[in-house]
Amino acid sequence: MSAFIECIEDPAISTLPAVLNPVELCRRLRERLPWQIDGLTETQVRPLRHHAGKRCVVEIALRTVEGPLRLIGKVYSTDHSEVYRLMKVVSAAGFAPGEEFSIPPPVAYIDDLQLLLQERVEGKPSTESFLSDDESIRKAAAERCALWLARFHAMAPRVGSSFDLGSHLLAIEQWFLRVVSLERSLADKAGALFRGLEYASSRLQPNEMVAVHGDYTHHQVILGQGSTVATDWDNYGVADPARDVARFIVGLQRFGLRFQGFIGALDGPAQIFLKAYVATGRFDVSTRLPFQRAAACLEHAKHDVHKRAQRWRERAEATLDEGLRTLEAGV
Ligand SMILES: Nc1ncnc2c1ncn2[C@@H]1O[C@H](COP(=O)(O)OP(=O)(O)O)[C@@H](O)[C@H]1O
Ligand SMILES: [Mg+2]
Repeated sequence: MSAFIECIEDPAISTLPAVLNPVELCRRLRERLPWQIDGLTETQVRPLRHHAGKRCVVEIALRTVEGPLRLIGKVYSTDHSEVYRLMKVVSAAGFAPGEEFSIPPPVAYIDDLQLLLQERVEGKPSTESFLSDDESIRKAAAERCALWLARFHAMAPRVGSSFDLGSHLLAIEQWFLRVVSLERSLADKAGALFRGLEYASSRLQPNEMVAVHGDYTHHQVILGQGSTVATDWDNYGVADPARDVARFIVGLQRFGLRFQGFIGALDGPAQIFLKAYVATGRFDVSTRLPFQRAAACLEHAKHDVHKRAQRWRERAEATLDEGLRTLEAGV
C-alpha cells in the first residue's frame, strides 16, 4: 500500500485524519463500496484544497481489479449528504457523463467520514483558457461556459434552498457592515454601494426563479473533450438566474485584476460570455444584472477585507468601484 500525504491539521474537520490516511481510507472504501470498487488493492490520497474549518478537497487514486480509478473526494466539517443527493438528481436531469453539458458523476457519500466521492473528470480547467494569449481560445471558453449555464438554468430541477430578494438584501447588509467594521478607509465606498443596492433592489420587478449553481465561476468549469463539466455543488439552490451570470462575470473581472492588474482585463471574454448566454433567449437577465453584479462586487470586497491576502485593500477598492460603476451605468 503506498501513499502520498501532506500533513493538514484541522480539528473542525474531525474525519480528515481518516480520509488522509490511505490505509484507513482503503479499509472504509472496501467496507462501504464493495460493489462499486471491486478488489481494491491500493489507495493514494493527495490534498488539493483546504478551507480551514470547513472542507478539504482531495484526489484519490485507487487500484482495483478492473484497473485504476481516480476520484475527487470532498470531506466536510458537517454533514453534506444533500450535495450527493442533489448531484444524482442533476445528473439524471440531463447532465450525465457523455452529455455535451454535464456534471461529475457522483459516486457515493460516506456518512461516517462526511466524505463526498465523485469521479475525477478529465479535461482542461477553463481558468487555463482564460489565461491564454490566444483570443480564439478565450472566446471558445467563454461561449462554452455560457452555454453550460443557459442549459442548466433551463433544465435543472428547481430544488433546494430558495435565495429570494429579501434574504439577499439581508446578506448584502451584513457584507457592508463587515467591510465597515474591518476597514474604515473603505466605509464611504462600501456605504455608497450599499445604498445604491438598496435603491436598485426597490426598482426590481418580480422574476422567474430557477435552479442556480450558486458559485458559478471559471474555477468550476472543466473543458473536456466533447463535454463541458461544472464542478462544486455546495451552493445549489433556487434563485434569480442573473445571480449566476453576474457571479461569473465578476469572477472573470477579479481574475483579470489579480493576474493582469486591472479589473477590466478580461471584459472581452466576459462580454462574449454574456452575449452567448443572452443569445440562447431563455431568460432575460438584463434588467437584474446590474444589481446582481454590484452585489457580487460587495461580497468580493468583504471577502478581501476579511482574508487580507496580498494587495487586499487595493483589490477591495477596485471591486467596490466596479460595483458603483455597474449600478450607475446599468450594465
Ligand atoms: N470531479 C472533478 N474532476 C476533476 N477536478 C475536480 C472535480 N471536482 C473538483 N475538481 C477540482 O478541484 C477544485 C476544487 O473543487 P471544488 O469542488 O470547487 O471545491 P472548493 O469548495 O474548494 O471550491 C475545482 O476547482 C476543480 O479544479
Ligand atoms: Mg470551487
